[in-house]
Amino acid sequence: WLLSQSICILGELSKIAMPVLFNEPLSFLQRLTEYMEHMYLIHQANTSTDSIQRMKCVAAFAVSAVASQWERTGKPFNPLLGETYELIREDLGFRWVSEQVSHHPPVSAFHAEGLKDDFLFHGSIYPKLKFWGKSVEAEPRGIITLELPKHNEAYTWTNPTCCVHNIIVGQLWIEQYGNVEVINHKTGERCALTFKSCGIFGKELHKVEGYILDKSKKKICAIYGKWTECLYTVDPATFDLHKKADKKPAEEKKGSKQSSVDEEPEEMPPPEAETVQVIPGSELVWRISPRPDNSAQYYAFSTFAMQLNELEEDMKESLPTTDCRLRPDIRALENGDIDSASAEKKRLEEKQRVARKNRSKSSEDWKTRWFNQGANPHNGGQDWLYCGGYWSRNYSQLPDIY
Ligand SMILES: *[C@@H]1O[C@H](CO)[C@@H](O)[C@H](O)[C@H]1NC(C)=O
Ligand SMILES: *[C@@H]1O[C@H](CO)[C@@H](O)[C@H](O)[C@H]1NC(C)=O
Ligand SMILES: *[C@@H]1O[C@H](CO)[C@@H](O)[C@H](O)[C@H]1NC(C)=O
Repeated sequence: WLLSQSICILGELSKIAMPVLFNEPLSFLQRLTEYMEHMYLIHQANTSTDSIQRMKCVAAFAVSAVASQWERTGKPFNPLLGETYELIREDLGFRWVSEQVSHHPPVSAFHAEGLKDDFLFHGSIYPKLKFWGKSVEAEPRGIITLELPKHNEAYTWTNPTCCVHNIIVGQLWIEQYGNVEVINHKTGERCALTFKSCGIFGKELHKVEGYILDKSKKKICAIYGKWTECLYTVDPATFDLHKKADKKPAEEKKGSKQSSVDEEPEEMPPPEAETVQVIPGSELVWRISPRPDNSAQYYAFSTFAMQLNELEEDMKESLPTTDCRLRPDIRALENGDIDSASAEKKRLEEKQRVARKNRSKSSEDWKTRWFNQGANPHNGGQDWLYCGGYWSRNYSQLPDIY
C-alpha cells in the first residue's frame, strides 16, 4: 500500500528503482521503432490515388503500430537523457533516428523518413503513467505525424491508452482503450477510432472500430477489427445494420479499477476462441504477421523486435556512443547476465543523477542534440522536431551518458 501511495504521490513509476527482472532487454526508444513493423501500409498509402483509400492505410498503420504491445508485459528500460537510437531498414524502405529529449517528464522524440522520399513520420511521446493499485495505465501523450509529400498531405493522431493489469498479483495482461482520431489536415477527412475496453464479460477485448468521415462529417466508410489481429473496412450502412442485429453487449463497467483496493486480481478475459466476425462485403486492410515460434521464451518479441539489439562489427564504428545498442545494462540483460544488468542499471541511473546535480549547480542547461522543442506544423500542439544532420554522422558534442 505504501508503495502504491508513494507512486501515486510522485505520479510516475520512473522514480522508483525497479528490479531489472521486470525488464525486457530494450529501451523505450527501441520499442518505439516497432511502430514501423507494418511499414508496407505507408507505402500503400503513398501509392493510392484516392484520399479515402490513403486514410484506410494510414488508420490501419496507426492501429498496427500498437499491435506489437500484445502480450508484451516486460517493461522497457527508461531511456537516459541524451540516449539515442537509430534504425536503417533498407528492406522496409526507411531510416529512423530518436533521442530522449527530456527526463522529467520523460519525452522521447523520433523522426523517420522513407528511403525513396515517399514519407516522413515523426513525433514525440510522453507516456504519462498512472498507478491504480492493481494496474498501471500509460497514457501516451504526444503527437504522431505522418507526411506524404507526393500528395502534399499530413496526418496526425495520438496513441490509445495502454493498461497493464495485475502488476502485483495474478497474471499480467494488456488492454488498450480510448479514442484515436487520425486527421488528414489537407482534405479535412478524419478517421475516428475507438479502442474498446474489454467490458465485464471480455466481449469487447481488443476490439477497435470507427468510421472514416469526410469534411462535413458524413460517414464514408466503417472500419473494424482487433488491434491484436486484423482490420477490415466496410460500407457504413452495412456496418450499422450489422451492429444493430448483434445484441447490445452488457453495459460496460469502466472505472471499476479506480477503487481496486481489494485483493482479487483483475480477471483476465477468457481467451476468445471467436476471432473477428467478418461482415459480408468487407475488405481486409491489415493482418498481423505471426510471432516466431520461440517468441514466448523471448519476452513475447516479434521478429522485428528480436533484431533491435543487433550490433554488427561495422556498426560499432558508425554508431554514436549514445546509441541504445551500446548501453551496458540492456546488453547484459540481452546476454542473460542478470547480475551485471542490475549493477549496470544502478550505475547508469546514479551517473545520470550526479550529472543532473552538477548541472543544477552550474549555469549550464541540458542541450538536446538532434531535436528541438517546437510547435507541430500541422496542429500547433507542443512537439519536438528533428533539426537534421544526424546521418552526416558528425558526433562532436555528444554527452557521456554510459
Ligand atoms: C509515391 O507515390 C507517388 C504518387 O502516387 C509515386 O509517383 C511514387 O513513385 C511513390 N513512391 C514510392 C516509393 O512508391
Ligand atoms: C560532476 O562534477 C564533478 C566535480 O566537478 C566531476 O568530477 C564529475 O565528473 C561530474 N560528473 C558528471 C557525471 O558529470
Ligand atoms: C561537426 O559539428 C561541429 C559543431 O557541432 C562543427 O563545429 C564541426 O565543424 C563539424 N565537423 C565537420 C567535419 O563537419
